[in-house]
Formats: sequence, structure tokens, C-alpha cells
Amino acid sequence: MRRCLSFTCPWARVTAPERRRSRVRPHGQEHLRILLRSSAVQKRVREMGLQISKDFKGQRVHLIGVLKGAAIFLSDLIRHIRVDVSLDFMAVSSYGKGSHTSGQVRLVKDLDTSIEGLNVIVVEDILDTGLTLGYLLRVLQQRKPKSLRIAALLDKPERRIKKDVKADYVGFQIPNEFVVGYGLDYAERYRNLKDVCVLSLPPD
Ligand code: IMP
Ligand code: MG
Repeated sequence: MRRCLSFTCPWARVTAPERRRSRVRPHGQEHLRILLRSSAVQKRVREMGLQISKDFKGQRVHLIGVLKGAAIFLSDLIRHIRVDVSLDFMAVSSYGKGSHTSGQVRLVKDLDTSIEGLNVIVVEDILDTGLTLGYLLRVLQQRKPKSLRIAALLDKPERRIKKDVKADYVGFQIPNEFVVGYGLDYAERYRNLKDVCVLSLPPD
């Protein structure tokens, strides 16, 4: 039987040593460079879960995952949380199909249940311009949670437009580069990469 357990990047072009390690296949002219290895991501997500558990000792937390990018981060994070925890999802549209933000945020899927009186943590894949989280915080604050925090796996501070939007729990601060993997996509691809990789696109 064919084994394919070591795949990290099934389609993209990567540098030779990385290709040997992850056995990737090229996709068009796209190029991937590993920025954060899976092991580092896993370690940091565990630390974040333990920190949340400490901060909310004896209380309940309600995670709100921002679809779709945060789905993988959230599913790992929640398993490191040691207090009572529930979850819900929201979906917003802000990036369209490409790697440039449209600047417009639209609610595509709302919560299933009320958050009134709950300790809410919004779980996001990446805090970039801050437009998405700025919008979500405004929407959620109106629903009277007991507390409202943000957990973002990645933070690109250089790109911030909404300067007042800050994450309470940050996995990694990263430079101003477009990244994919561990839930983050480019045109819906690459979410399945275990590592977080910088994606370079061919010139237009
Ligand atoms: P915002 O610019 O902070 O509103 O970011 C909105 C959304 O854009 C994030 O939740 C991601 O889904 C997406 N995004 C921002 N930067 C990247 C990136 O480098 N790679 C993939 N998606 C990104
Ligand atoms: Mg997102």
C-alpha cells in the first residue's frame, strides 16, 4: 500500500532540501518557503492553550473561530485548554480570491448561540490590517459578552491599518509576507500544509 504520511506541501514548488523533506510537487510558478515549522507551531499553540487555561482558571471560555482560516488552529488550541470550553464559528469575507485585501468586511455566517455573559475569545488565523477583527469586535461587543479577547496564531504588525486592534494571545509575529498553510490559504489552496510557508507568486 502506498504511504503518503510525510507530505506537507502537495503541490507547491519548494527549495531542494525542503522538497526532499516534504516530497512536494510543483504547482505552476508558485514557490513556497517554510517560515514556521509544524513542530514550532504545535509547541506555541500548546503554550497559548495553557496560558488561556491559567487566565480563565475556574471559569468557562467560549471560543469563536473565524472561518475558514482559523479552523485548524482552533482545533489544536481547544485541545490544550484545561477549563470548561465551548465553541462557535463566524465567517467573514474580506480577502476575495487573491493575496490583496479588498478592505471590505462582510458577515457571511453568524453565531449559532448568544454570547451574553460569556468569556469570549475570538480565534483568528492572522491579524493583518486589523479590519476583520476590528469589525468583529464591534459586532460582538454589542452582544454583551462578559469579556472579549483575541487569540491570533500570526500577527503582521507592519500591515496594521486599525492600530487599536491588538491580540491578547499571539502565536508568532511575522514579517510582511504572504503566508499559507496550517489553515491559511491562497485561493483556497494550501490550507493543508503542516508548516506555515511564505508563498511567492509569479509576476503578473
Ligand atoms: P485583516 O487584513 O487583518 O482583516 O485580515 C483578514 C484575513 O485576511 C485574515 O483572517 C486571513 O484570512 C487573511 N489574510 C491576511 N494575511 C494573510 C496571509 O498572509 N495569508 C493568508 N491569508 C491572509
Ligand atoms: Mg481569517
